[in-house]
Amino acid sequence: MKRYTIAVLPGDGIGPEVIAQAVRVLEAVGERFEIRFALDTCPVGAAAVRTSNSPLPPETRRAVTRSHAVLLGAVGDPTLDDAPRELRPETGLLTLRKLLDVYANLRPVAIHAALAGCSPLKPDRLRGVDLLVVRELTGGLYYGEPRGRNGKRAINTLAYTTAEIERIARVAFDAARGRRRLVTSVDKANVLEVSQLWRETVTQVGRAYPDVRLEHCYVDTAAMRLVSDPASLDVVLTENMFGDILSDEAAVLAGSLGLLPSASLGDGAGLFEPVHGSAPPLAGRDVANPVGAIATVALLLRHGLNLPAAADAVDDAIAAALDAGARTPDLARPGDQIIGTKEMGSRVVELVLAEALEGLS
Ligand code: NAD
Ligand code: IPM
Ligand code: MN
Repeated sequence: MKRYTIAVLPGDGIGPEVIAQAVRVLEAVGERFEIRFALDTCPVGAAAVRTSNSPLPPETRRAVTRSHAVLLGAVGDPTLDDAPRELRPETGLLTLRKLLDVYANLRPVAIHAALAGCSPLKPDRLRGVDLLVVRELTGGLYYGEPRGRNGKRAINTLAYTTAEIERIARVAFDAARGRRRLVTSVDKANVLEVSQLWRETVTQVGRAYPDVRLEHCYVDTAAMRLVSDPASLDVVLTENMFGDILSDEAAVLAGSLGLLPSASLGDGAGLFEPVHGSAPPLAGRDVANPVGAIATVALLLRHGLNLPAAADAVDDAIAAALDAGARTPDLARPGDQIIGTKEMGSRVVELVLAEALEGLS
């Protein structure tokens, strides 16, 4: 029997609720495919600040470094908004990404046919939409030095090296080879030197991929294109901050931010988390959509553990649940029957196991 250790970091707000459902699905996959998942659950974010006075305590660092993959919910708590940087929940997440050196953040955006009515975009704009945001995750403004604040002046630094750009560009071109073979590199090269280096380096890397078309697009135009002509995009390659913003914008195409999963990959264990945050107003109410977290389990199986059949089973079960009308409040339209976080988890679990029974008959 295959055996994997997964560090599970539920985090804050709706994080624990959506991760509870993701874990149930992971366990159903274990049952169906006879895989043993040993779960090592640890605190991160505000939850960890409360128990250990650190958003990424030593026990959590140890757990992630001895795991095959890390599954994280979300971090963020309004009560810590004014805390010093070392005690902010977000600092725990940023430190974790750096610790694992997961520089490549993959954020796929697919449209479930059954959910076409959930997006405010006209259905004809959504036809053929299937894109992948490849976001650089361990550089740029989030990490640049110097940084800080001195009274009425504050500073952050945007810096990238050629090596950092090359490695993320290769991820984008490799991904494009398994898709529609188009890379749209997003920058602000009309203004920023960093973007000029980005453009030059991506072009250079692209020469090794003559079968993939490369286009460059300024970030302001890319933001517009995402909603005006999203089907014209395939792989969107961009730096850390632009990728953060554009991926939430892309969630509008899918119908809810609560649907989007992500995989953050480097050379070692990967970090897997839904794109959304801790959504404090939704916490503790059984209303959050767990599909993003459950789809994240599929990415963990596919990219983190190289178990494509198990990943497909999760994706198929999600699609079948949505096709059968499962709707959390964020997806509901007038007349729909609304279900909660736990019930959405139950529907997907049942379908993962039902597919197993089908396979036996
Ligand atoms: P958010 O992603 O938590 O919420 C944005 C909007 O999307 C809200 O309207 C929310 O209700 C909705 N939403 C998010 N997830 C949902 C789900 N699963 N189901 C249904 N609706 C969902 O972003 P925010 O409100 O700007 O930030 C809240 C906190 O989360 C902040 O502390 C922020 O720093 C943190 N955050 C963390 C992460 C992360 O851990 N990866 C990501 C984004 C934001
Ligand atoms: C995300 C979040 C994080 C980011 C924050 C919470 C640090 O918005 O994962 O998209 O900006 O990367
Ligand atoms: Mn974000």
